[in-house]
Amino acid sequence: MHDTRVLCTDQVGLILEQPDERRPRELARVSNRPSIGKRRHNAEGMLRRQQAMTKNPSNREARATTIVKRKRSLTHVGGEVEAKGGSALVDLLVRALAVDAAPEPLGDAGEANDDSDRGDVHGFHTYPARMHPHTARSLVDTLTPKRGIVLDPFCGSGTVVAEASARGLAAHGSDLNPLAVQLARTKLQRYTPEELILLASEALRVAEFADERRKARAGATHRYGEEDVAIFDPHVLLELDSLRAAIGSSEAGPTIRRALSLVLSAIIVKVSRKKSDTSTQLEAKRIAAGFTAKLFRRKATELVERLTAYRERREGKARWRVELDDATRLETVRDRSVGLIVSSPPYAATYDYFSHHDMRLRWLELDARSFAKGELGARRHFERLSIDEARARWQHELGKLLWSLARVTAEQASVCLQIADSAVDGQPLFADEELRVATARSAFVWLAEASQARPHFHGPTNRAFDRSPRREHLFLLRRVG
Ligand SMILES: C[S@@+](CC[C@H](N)C(=O)[O-])C[C@H]1O[C@@H](n2cnc3c(N)ncnc32)[C@H](O)[C@@H]1O
Repeated sequence: MHDTRVLCTDQVGLILEQPDERRPRELARVSNRPSIGKRRHNAEGMLRRQQAMTKNPSNREARATTIVKRKRSLTHVGGEVEAKGGSALVDLLVRALAVDAAPEPLGDAGEANDDSDRGDVHGFHTYPARMHPHTARSLVDTLTPKRGIVLDPFCGSGTVVAEASARGLAAHGSDLNPLAVQLARTKLQRYTPEELILLASEALRVAEFADERRKARAGATHRYGEEDVAIFDPHVLLELDSLRAAIGSSEAGPTIRRALSLVLSAIIVKVSRKKSDTSTQLEAKRIAAGFTAKLFRRKATELVERLTAYRERREGKARWRVELDDATRLETVRDRSVGLIVSSPPYAATYDYFSHHDMRLRWLELDARSFAKGELGARRHFERLSIDEARARWQHELGKLLWSLARVTAEQASVCLQIADSAVDGQPLFADEELRVATARSAFVWLAEASQARPHFHGPTNRAFDRSPRREHLFLLRRVG
């Protein structure tokens, strides 16, 4: 027997290591780097300050107000939660969806820290439709498997894997987007204190190098195509070029180079003419000379602080992996090895991760050809379809996904999926209905679900939700047989 309730709560509220490891000749000429000793000294001071901050609660608060920009994240504006299923399971899902509304923005436009309402590593780099860390933590805690690993086959920025690993659970994340893989690995990597110092000192060196080249009016280290010329002011493009060249020539090792590349990725949209990550619109931005390198330095400092805080709350030494893999194949996951899946698949016809990340993928020299072909739910694959064709395509994609999840899950494994309604051809595509249809044909049984109304941002399809609001759903399934 299932009960159906409407609950009102007020809280519901890479890097490709650059294959080109050459150190550009002029880079060596212009560079007047501080000695390693001095850079280390600066970096050690920075790390000591961070450690003191995280240990002392009043300092922790001070740090939150200095490095953390408050910004209302509209995707988390809470609303009424409707839930169906056995009461204990419903409570579990409702608690996981109960996300506090983000605090008011402070309005410091131009700041790189656009995800700062999220704790430690989760706030480092923007990523469309990230799961809220509270949701990931709450699901991992309440559904902890007795045996088997925790898997997120659409790991994106790494929220679920980071939370599972923080709880001392063996965690495996995969994604077909190479940017996601590099980002999640950067967060999950177990850095020693020495490596964090090295990361901070290399970031200073890279930023200083870009500053020196700007002052010396040095030209670009290689030719840039029209897409970059159109999207960056010339002085910004030159600073980005210098930052990238210095990262590529860093002798600090692949892990540090990857982290530095992700810092570059974190600032690149901010300093471009692109309005936002998910928008194709361009707008004029007044970016002062030297600002790009300064932002890089600030964002790198923030990354070290966030990694330090994550390091301190991480329990045990459980193994973790993040791999490039298609969720409909999962070639990197062994049969029946998974005890729990917590994941947020792409929403049908809503995002186009390949296009959203086009600039970052190019700058980080990541090969995204399989992603371009295999991305599920991509808006570009749905936008010319009628609602019936879109449903058929989505059912086909969900079917392939559930088939591959069935192969890797152990008997009785729990699968919790977060997914939102979308719109095609002016018509709503209700994710709960579609997932229920696909589940009925799979090796999983439906146990419970909770749904919460969420705002819909896509102008052209707004009217699709005139009659019934767009909702975000949490589904709990169990592997049978
Ligand atoms: C909603 S996002 C996941 C966000 C993630 N939960 C987080 O907190 O950052 C969906 C993800 O699915 C990935 N994706 C799309 N098609 C895929 C496929 N065929 N295999 C694996 N991942 C895919 C996208 O790259 C994106 O990272």
